[in-house]
Amino acid sequence: MRLQKYMAKCGVASRRKSEKLISKGVVKVNGSTITELGFKINPDKDIVKVNNRIIKMEEKSVYILLNKPDGYITTVSDQFDRPTVLDIIKNVKQRVYPVGRLDYDTSGLLLITNDGNLTYKLTHPKHEINKTYIAKIKGIPKENELTKFRNGLKIENYITSKAKIKILNRYKDSSLVEIIIHEGKNRQVRKMCDKIGHPVIWLKRIALGKITIDNLEKGKWRYLNDKEINYLKNI
Ligand code: URA
Repeated sequence: MRLQKYMAKCGVASRRKSEKLISKGVVKVNGSTITELGFKINPDKDIVKVNNRIIKMEEKSVYILLNKPDGYITTVSDQFDRPTVLDIIKNVKQRVYPVGRLDYDTSGLLLITNDGNLTYKLTHPKHEINKTYIAKIKGIPKENELTKFRNGLKIENYITSKAKIKILNRYKDSSLVEIIIHEGKNRQVRKMCDKIGHPVIWLKRIALGKITIDNLEKGKWRYLNDKEINYLKNI
């Protein structure tokens, strides 16, 4: 990309004014002053300074909804070299990262973005955004166990907030339940189910607030639409 075009894209000045700055000798590329107007740079690699300050292109904000398969971690890198969710998001140029986390062995809805403000908001406990999960659990919980689950359980050093749980289906020695919590402590759903004596067999997140996974296939992703983005920004 021509240097003056890059400067304009970084919001330094118009192309014409950027050319003037180049001619004045206040623009450096990788440490060398450039005064040639047709000079070309690689925006991904070269470091451009104007008056000794690095300039950068504003990255477009992107919002991605992934149906995470089990067997992927949600941190950006892993000491055991396991696959990360970013391995699935190919061809996205922006440097994106997951909003919150899902366990290695949990599947379902995961937001991925490069919007730091939104991430901060969505992961801050005070916003109490509902997260809806479907779980297969061992055994069939009794009414008193469901009540404990709903009212708050002591887990390690904290007591869980009010939660929702309803049985969707009863099998011989397991059940399918829908769980809604608005906290996001480490392995919280699994620990809550353990606590009432019905450990999780598998766990899937299906919604975050009003954003739902619907019929997005496991391992597939899509960009959020404007309505979904506005909804999240206005929470
Ligand atoms: N609760 C869990 O236990 N695991 C998850 O991945 C998400 C919520």
